[in-house]
Amino acid sequence: DKKITIAIDGFSSTGKSTLAKQLARQLGYVYADTGAMYRAVTLYAMQHHLIDAAHFDRESLVAHLPKIKLHFVFNPELGFGEMFLNDVNVEAEIRTLEVSNFVSHIAEVSEVRSKLVEQQKQMGKDKGIVMDGRDIGTVVFPDAELKIFMTASSHTRAQRRFDELTAKGQSITYDEVLQNVEERDYIDTHRADSPLRKAQDAIEIDNSHMSREEQLDAVLELVYKF
Ligand code: C5P
Repeated sequence: DKKITIAIDGFSSTGKSTLAKQLARQLGYVYADTGAMYRAVTLYAMQHHLIDAAHFDRESLVAHLPKIKLHFVFNPELGFGEMFLNDVNVEAEIRTLEVSNFVSHIAEVSEVRSKLVEQQKQMGKDKGIVMDGRDIGTVVFPDAELKIFMTASSHTRAQRRFDELTAKGQSITYDEVLQNVEERDYIDTHRADSPLRKAQDAIEIDNSHMSREEQLDAVLELVYKF
């Protein structure tokens, strides 16, 4: 079988990672969550007091970049790679609302983007990969055989993220989550470097009213054409 590259982009909480993981499992491909990489850099910035609600020390962050080492370690129980920051598993810590609130600011920094994009290109050089993010079809893999752009209403997305976070025991309100989802959409689509947009040749899937199975089947049908 010919291995291809699958790029999945879209707004926050559209279920990109769920779909990407299922696809990777079904096809025997590698799954790469690029949001986790931006989140890990954000966690580093928080740990080193380079960012908080009041300020963001962009220059220091850029100076620290060579010291930030990211990699995924495959966890056979989960079936995908967990995010490691300087050899520490940060998979749980990068999913908090606090990290979500800062991550889009970190992701605006061009030096951060070029470092991570470089690593992402390396990860995909042998194809057989499903990568999700915001700029995969436009910047990381502009030549990907299959590009998917996922959308859903902000209400649907906030409800999904709220359910996910409360299931993990985080105490937050629906309104806080909705506000975060809308703010990230705004920053992600308006930033100067690699703004979130649908690649010309991407196939759009609005999953507001689709089950996970329906989404997986729709994309698998596209994959099997190759
Ligand atoms: O996918 P996830 O919601 O975890 O991504 C967190 C944030 O990381 C996004 O809101 C966006 O600001 C940033 N990001 C990005 N480019 C990517 C992946 C994520 O700018 N390829």
